[in-house]
Amino acid sequence: MFKIGIIGIGNMGQAILEGLIKRSGLNSSDIIIYDLNKEKIKDIVEKYEVAAASDVGYLVNLSEIIFIAVKPKDFEDSVKPALNYFNENKTVISVMAGVPIYKIKSVIGSSKIIRTMPNTPALIGEGVIGVSFDFEEESKKREITKLLSSLGEVIEVKEELMDSITGLSGSGPAYVFTFIDALAMAGVKIGFSYQGALKIATQTVLGTAKLLKETAEHPAVLRDKVTSPAGTTIYGLHKLEEKGFKDAIISAVEEATNRSKQLSK
Ligand SMILES: NC(=O)c1ccc[n+]([C@@H]2O[C@H](COP(=O)([O-])OP(=O)(O)OC[C@H]3O[C@@H](n4cnc5c(N)ncnc54)[C@H](OP(=O)(O)O)[C@@H]3O)[C@@H](O)[C@H]2O)c1
Repeated sequence: MFKIGIIGIGNMGQAILEGLIKRSGLNSSDIIIYDLNKEKIKDIVEKYEVAAASDVGYLVNLSEIIFIAVKPKDFEDSVKPALNYFNENKTVISVMAGVPIYKIKSVIGSSKIIRTMPNTPALIGEGVIGVSFDFEEESKKREITKLLSSLGEVIEVKEELMDSITGLSGSGPAYVFTFIDALAMAGVKIGFSYQGALKIATQTVLGTAKLLKETAEHPAVLRDKVTSPAGTTIYGLHKLEEKGFKDAIISAVEEATNRSKQLSK
């Protein structure tokens, strides 16, 4: 028996595999994978020394917790050959964007289901993983939360907020990359090389996020501490307000959330 089975070992499937092996305390021998792409499986088995299932039914039959990490369009095909093996003793964790729990349940039946929305920093164990459970069992919830913590911070959300977390943290890294790039370009305009400015911009964002997290202060309190009367920062902040900085961010998250709702239909 394997603790974990992963169906679909593409970008997200590999991020999950790596997080579990490096940071969850599980061993390679606890994990079995399945993918249509046999070349990919061969490389991953060599790299991580995990087992590979010859078919998806074998994986589901022998796994306690099953991650589904295929594209939403491939969901039904990916589990169809294994439908006989899903039962109330199996726990299924879906990372498929926009596939609601009721739809997963209508295909695989009585297993416990967790719908998740990870973001790309999960690749280095620093993601945000939004989760919705379709069951109340607290000990199981704790077990799954601990497991997913190997990918980053786990935040439980009601399922109706899954599109919102997609717009906020799912798309969030793209907003932050854009902000860092803009800071670096500004650095070039005021005399730095792009590489030099990028290094300064990246560390500024990283350090600021860490300071915020570690002090747990309101961002406005920390901002006020670096904003002295008639100093440089208030002049910069005024320009951001004039250009509609906050308005742009709020609109971006709202638009992305609405788009996620459209795509889920
Ligand atoms: N990437 C992200 O940042 C991210 C973030 C949040 C959520 N997600 C979700 O994660 C899921 C996977 O995304 P991804 O970017 O990792 O996609 P991906 O790289 O295309 O990986 C999907 C894998 O599933 C395999 N596959 C396709 N049909 C299959 C089947 N019937 N049985 C078994 N395996 C099958 C694919 O093989 P082939 O290559 O041969 O097609 C591929 O290796 C998606 O549902 C997406 O919504 C991704």
